[in-house]
Amino acid sequence: MENNIILIGFMGVGKSTVGLLLSQQLGNMFVDLDSEIEQAVGLTIPQIFYNNGEQAFRNQETDCLSQLNPQMKLVVSTGGGIIQRKENWHLMHKLGTVVYLHADWDTLVERLVDSSNRPLVENGADDKLHSLWLQRQSLYNQADVVIKTDGKSPQQVADKVISMLECINDNME
Ligand code: S3P
Repeated sequence: MENNIILIGFMGVGKSTVGLLLSQQLGNMFVDLDSEIEQAVGLTIPQIFYNNGEQAFRNQETDCLSQLNPQMKLVVSTGGGIIQRKENWHLMHKLGTVVYLHADWDTLVERLVDSSNRPLVENGADDKLHSLWLQRQSLYNQADVVIKTDGKSPQQVADKVISMLECINDNME
């Protein structure tokens, strides 16, 4: 498959797990953007938020995204807030096909229990986080492809992504 794949979606939806599976299956290089940011800054994500603030994190996020090479075969898993900046959309579209991994709120509530590494999850899946999830839906839905993940294993989600992209490629030929 020619396309680079950029996975977007809310925290806890499984972007990193699915991304790794996809990269193994397709023989693409896997890039976890949050890990790239941590390496570039030399701090963990919570440390960046607490020491430098969210804006500094967002600048770093755009910077790391802009440094990815569209010529390489990539599967990129992004942080849940990447969709907030218009500039990031230009960069993601330049890189490849943007795939939104969607999960219902009830599914995410269960997956967000263990979120000690997520500075935006202060009190588990509370009302504030639910509002953020709702607020972001219209942005996530601007993706090229939307995949529903509820009730699916990471492998089933990866298989679905591949079949959807194959379908798009076939229709473009
Ligand atoms: C964020 C999601 C996190 C991380 C940061 C901010 C967000 O990534 O980038 O804590 O704004 O939704 P995950 O979606 O991988 O948890």
